[in-house]
Amino acid sequence: MSETIEGKSYLITGGASLVGSHICDVLLQAGAREIRLLDNFSLGTPATIAHLENEPRVTRIRGDVLRLVDLLEASEGVDGVFALAGFLTLPMSKDPLTGLSVNVIGMLNTLEACRFNQVRRVIFSSSIAVYGTPGGGVLDEDRGYVSCDLQPASKLYGASKLIGESLCAQYAKQYGVQFNALRFSSVYGARQHARAVNAVFVAKICDQVARGEAPVIFGDGEEVHDYVYVSDVARACMLAMVSDAHDLSINIGTGVDTTSTEVARMALRLSGKADVEPVYQADTRAVKSAAATALQIDVKRAESTIGWRADVPLEEGMRRLMEWQKANIAPAS
Ligand SMILES: NC(=O)c1ccc[n+]([C@@H]2O[C@H](COP(=O)([O-])OP(=O)(O)OC[C@H]3O[C@@H](n4cnc5c(N)ncnc54)[C@H](O)[C@@H]3O)[C@@H](O)[C@H]2O)c1
Repeated sequence: MSETIEGKSYLITGGASLVGSHICDVLLQAGAREIRLLDNFSLGTPATIAHLENEPRVTRIRGDVLRLVDLLEASEGVDGVFALAGFLTLPMSKDPLTGLSVNVIGMLNTLEACRFNQVRRVIFSSSIAVYGTPGGGVLDEDRGYVSCDLQPASKLYGASKLIGESLCAQYAKQYGVQFNALRFSSVYGARQHARAVNAVFVAKICDQVARGEAPVIFGDGEEVHDYVYVSDVARACMLAMVSDAHDLSINIGTGVDTTSTEVARMALRLSGKADVEPVYQADTRAVKSAAATALQIDVKRAESTIGWRADVPLEEGMRRLMEWQKANIAPAS
């Protein structure tokens, strides 16, 4: 690894995001000199980065990725940019005009600012949504986008991330702006928000169990997701910034499929209520991501290119999430 984080300066767009706030934490731990957090707070809240208030190496910038001038100023002199500003499927379903603008034009502006300011590398927060409908078999990075059976907002989200990756590749080819596009699976953890369909399920289950209720599962409980803890994702982003390998799309997940029933059973075990049975209800969710009974995300490329593999097993991650919920979310009266 030729680059180091120590002494370097970074910009995180969407700095008040779940993932961005954790990237800031790992960069600080690794000795970064300066971190700029740019956010327009349209989705994220200052509470997500409140723990950084007295950190002199962190600068908050109220800015908009749809305004190129904001990005030109914010990225001046930085060594790298973490492009996190984005609309997930749920906010995309409510406001596709802004969602597509942020995910596509916002990303184009980010790359344009990097080109102008000669920023060495951009880490793009992509998603396994770029595969669309999981078609069976191992999901490696060479699989294409299959959009059949997807809900419209899911389709738009996946397509917008594919465009983001294509823009990165174009700027690398045309202008030499290095990138790595990290395709996150379902990210969950401390500072969890309610914008990510699959992580919301985990957070709700933990909350229900903590309040002494039986966990509610939509459908037959066989739907699987690959849940990856947020601090593991943040570490992947940092490694992708300094790795010798670049201009790649890389899956960031655990490689482990977990059913909804298993999630509920873990939450019950963690709360000492293993004898409680989950309740199964008809799936009435208005917005869903791609659902399957097998995902099998291939995570070999992450290990061979950026030296990353997930460290936090789901049960440990849920324990941390429950601890955070206990300290931060007022119990329902
Ligand atoms: N959370 C997941 O499970 C997951 C999975 C795959 C990919 N991703 C991607 O990773 C990124 C971060 O995810 P997250 O869950 O931390 O997101 P998040 O919703 O917590 O944060 C997104 C941030 O972008 C900001 N933002 C939106 N529009 C903006 C604009 N015009 N200018 C500046 N900031 C703006 C929001 O205010 C918010 O703070 C997103 O791009 C998301 O698509 C997330």
